[in-house]
Amino acid sequence: MRVYSRALREPREAFMNIILLGPPGAGKGTQAQYMCETFGFRQVSTGDMLREAIAAGTELGEQVESILSAGDLVPDDVIIRLVLELVKASTTGHLFDGVPRTVAQAEGLREGGVPINLVLEFTLPDQLVVERLGGRRVHPGSGRVYHLQHRPPRSAGVDDVTGEPIVQRPDDREDTVRARLSVYREQTMPLIDYYERAAADGLVRYVRISADDNFAAIREQVESVVRD
Ligand code: AP5
Repeated sequence: MRVYSRALREPREAFMNIILLGPPGAGKGTQAQYMCETFGFRQVSTGDMLREAIAAGTELGEQVESILSAGDLVPDDVIIRLVLELVKASTTGHLFDGVPRTVAQAEGLREGGVPINLVLEFTLPDQLVVERLGGRRVHPGSGRVYHLQHRPPRSAGVDDVTGEPIVQRPDDREDTVRARLSVYREQTMPLIDYYERAAADGLVRYVRISADDNFAAIREQVESVVRD
């Protein structure tokens, strides 16, 4: 982990819980990694947890594999259980990356006693989503993320650290990406209204950021919001 001065690392509140909301490919995972490096949050990525379960061949993995391949959502009760189990013994701030994804999941977190301080919504037009996910490659062992044009590995086709192959996620093929975008619009976008209302009632901060910019510019905006 990189070492930052305390003043630089300090988020606004010591145990801040932040939700990263936005369409597939908006850069939530990329920015989550930066924020964890800078502020020491614990990243809670349900997508990564589910892919790990699939890779390990667990019962959960078997249950969800076809759901992820189709770009559909895993049932709310499964997700809520998974997340509450992870955060219950935690003593640090969390960065919720890709969760909640439905109003029912948001209610599940609230009822489970997980306070949310900040919701960061990333916006990105559909055509850029398709371009970003079409070019994304990942190292399955570590989850490191590359992009063929915007963030290529040092040697084509292999991970910078291990030299192992990097691959395209099965759900990053264009037809599945379009299905995920429909799911986002129908099932996840209602959360925008849900959290904007909570913000109007002073229960949470809600900040929208355009993800149509370069890595560093978005990182700078995100960090300034978290420190603000
Ligand atoms: P999940 O893994 O959460 O996928 P997602 O939300 O669709 O998000 P992605 O990981 O695809 O994109 P991202 O926004 O993290 O973008 P990234 O930073 O990689 O979920 C997968 C599946 O699991 C779901 O479809 C569902 O089935 C299931 N699931 C997960 N959570 C669930 C839940 N809560 N409830 C129910 N089901 C759930 O960036 C994308 C690419 O763009 C990369 O190549 C990156 O290098 C590049 N890039 C990033 N930023 C920039 C930039 N500024 N400029 C240029 N390129 C950029």
